[in-house]
Amino acid sequence: MIGVISAMPEEIDLLIGKMTSSELVEIGQRKYYKGELWGKDVVIAYSRIGKVAAATTAVTMILTFGVKEIIFSGVAGAISRNLNIGDIVIAKRLVQHDMDASPIFPRFEVPLLDKSFFETDEQLSRRLFRAAKIFVENINRYITRDLLRRFRIERINVTRGDVASGDQFITDSRRHHDLKQALPSIVCVEMEGAAVAQVCYEYQVPFAVLRTISDNADHNAEIDFNQFLTSIASRYSTGILEIFFSLI
Ligand code: ADE
Repeated sequence: MIGVISAMPEEIDLLIGKMTSSELVEIGQRKYYKGELWGKDVVIAYSRIGKVAAATTAVTMILTFGVKEIIFSGVAGAISRNLNIGDIVIAKRLVQHDMDASPIFPRFEVPLLDKSFFETDEQLSRRLFRAAKIFVENINRYITRDLLRRFRIERINVTRGDVASGDQFITDSRRHHDLKQALPSIVCVEMEGAAVAQVCYEYQVPFAVLRTISDNADHNAEIDFNQFLTSIASRYSTGILEIFFSLI
């Protein structure tokens, strides 16, 4: 059984619609869709935004549904200058950029866990990377040229890199630059991945994180955000995961 989580319903409704059989189970005010997707047993849920929401969802998937692997799929704001809107990042490691118990513990370190960066599962991440590459090569099957043009998506890059998560939507250029300086290896920011990473580390569940760049984590970040989720991000997620499941 594989767990698939996104933060927002707009990101995952299309994927839920592809399930061939599904049973809705409500736990802790969250809806979990348990069933089959392209011949594989899955549980799919939207966690809502933020680290606590994502961590809670991941724990429920592990303890209640017994998932053996978790994939988090969603959008992120670019920190690396090499990333453009529409590019795809498969996370290498995740870090909580708003974790700071200094001077008692080093900044970014999760207290009493001795860890700042949480590694994703290499096998799952490589498979997601391959799926994303195949998706990009066949992008016209999934998204119309008009839509791509509307979001100025031209050459789509697929890359591996470190991802930072925090309970903040980054739209402030000073915050953007602070993060870049304090965490030089990060390529993008989002609000859930590192929470799922910590849970999966604690429960020893392999996980991977797929992020589509929706903005540059600056003052333009909120423009067309919802439109991007429904028109672009949900199609990326569904297309890449369909290929991913066919590679298992
Ligand atoms: N997810 C997508 N864009 C983001 C941003 N700018 N900050 C945090 N999370 C995001």
